[in-house]
Amino acid sequence: MTISFEGQVAIVTGAGNGLGRAHALELAKRGAKVVINDLGGARDGSGASSEAAQEVVRLIEEAGGEAFAHGANVAKFDEVQDMVQQTMEKWGRVDILINNAGILRDKSFAKMDLADFQLVMDVHLMGSVNCTKAVWDIMREQNYGRIVMTTSSSGMYGNFGQSNYGAAKMAVLGFMNTLVLEGAKNDIRVNALSPTAGTRMTEDLIPPEIYELMTAESVTAGALTLCHKDAPNRFILCAGAGGYASTRLFETDGIFLPEAQQSADEVKANWDAICDLSNQADLKNGGEQTEKFLTKAMTYIQSQK
Ligand code: NAI
Repeated sequence: MTISFEGQVAIVTGAGNGLGRAHALELAKRGAKVVINDLGGARDGSGASSEAAQEVVRLIEEAGGEAFAHGANVAKFDEVQDMVQQTMEKWGRVDILINNAGILRDKSFAKMDLADFQLVMDVHLMGSVNCTKAVWDIMREQNYGRIVMTTSSSGMYGNFGQSNYGAAKMAVLGFMNTLVLEGAKNDIRVNALSPTAGTRMTEDLIPPEIYELMTAESVTAGALTLCHKDAPNRFILCAGAGGYASTRLFETDGIFLPEAQQSADEVKANWDAICDLSNQADLKNGGEQTEKFLTKAMTYIQSQK
């Protein structure tokens, strides 16, 4: 095993079941001390229990590893802070945070209560924000940190009945993009995992024979490449059923229209050129877009002199 987490401390949220459980077990197998966070509620976020998390701790300890369970609701910052404080008291550092905890409240947007929209945002987006906030200064002081967001194809591409979930899953990518810029000088790298797996979250959506192929372990193999010492930065890794791919956000080179042509009619008339995929770029920050447009404008102005 070349990827080792020996001597490192990891917090995995929602690690009592499914993907988080598989991430935690594999991290522990490769030497990490792991905090098994889980609220232990149902798929829709109702209820709470420590049973699943305790079972994961038992499995890790039985195999000779170190772990403890914490039942923080990731949507509550004070509970998350308590978990991180206990981690620091016990192990003195936090090298890895995998923001994995999640729930579903699916309904078409027409039928969805705003409360269900808010709850899903609170768990997925604010849960990731709360946990990241609680470890951020620790990672900055250590000059080391690896954070994984869990996004979804539902956010990146859409999925009927998941406007709340899709919005939250896309939001964590926006969160990642800025953290990457702000964490760089302290060697904090932030990546995102877009999984697809047979878990309780998807069990009624996937036929049984396909469910068997979509193991959590196949996704975990990808997840661990996003949080080891040589991890990439700002990478979106998609993983499922043994397939691995990367989603990238590209922007076309676009066009420049002189002031007299800056009308809706001209924009529409130039649609094909605006959408032309040749010379598209993977921009590294928002300013690069402004810079590109200003360069085009300046080039035009110079050409008129
Ligand atoms: P799961 O339902 O098996 O596990 C999620 C875990 O998160 C549960 O143990 C649950 O108790 C815990 N949890 C929920 N709310 C929590 C809270 N407020 N605080 C602490 N723990 C909480 O689901 P699965 O499939 O393992 O999902 C893991 C992550 O992967 C989620 O973020 C999910 O949205 C994402 N995902 C999963 C996909 C799949 O195909 N299974 C597809 C795309 C994304």
